[in-house]
Amino acid sequence: MLQWRELHKECMECHKCELGDTRTNMVLGEGNPKAKIMFIGEAPGADEDRLGRPFVGRAGQLFEKGVQALNLMRERDFYITNICKCRPKNNRTPYEEEANECIPYLRNQVALIKPKIIVCLGATAMKYILGSDWRITRDRGKWVERKGYFITCTFHPSAVLRDDNKKFSFWEDLKSIKNKYDEIE
Ligand code: URA
Repeated sequence: MLQWRELHKECMECHKCELGDTRTNMVLGEGNPKAKIMFIGEAPGADEDRLGRPFVGRAGQLFEKGVQALNLMRERDFYITNICKCRPKNNRTPYEEEANECIPYLRNQVALIKPKIIVCLGATAMKYILGSDWRITRDRGKWVERKGYFITCTFHPSAVLRDDNKKFSFWEDLKSIKNKYDEIE
């Protein structure tokens, strides 16, 4: 396991897949490295690629509105990252080979942070963390305990942006995450 400085360096220099050739910035993650909650999305979008920060575009702003309403703050209460640290062109879903090359970096981050709660944002994170038999519409909001982590999934905020009908469930899931957080404190 690498410490943060080495992990950052390795990711900055990573060209294990072709996303490393087309990125503007590698996006490692952001937040409190000692947080109890870790949110995991899919991959950086255009704004994230430009700024080198996760969830800062429209989807990120919607996500922030939700968590801030529950008094959860990025710098204090959670850490947020993605399955893939580099942007796929046109925001396509990362290929399995790309995700599989990148997931060891995520594992390293989890090992450093040791969160109590892991939240998958969207189907891609859910697939790689919870398994390919999970379905986001059917299984969102469910909790499992694995290897000492409480894990759940909810809709990706960009899916919520595209479909107003997902707003209520997304909000319910965020409240459930806050309840779990308060419970384990
Ligand atoms: N979507 C993601 O999955 N991650 C980001 O960082 C931004 C948008």
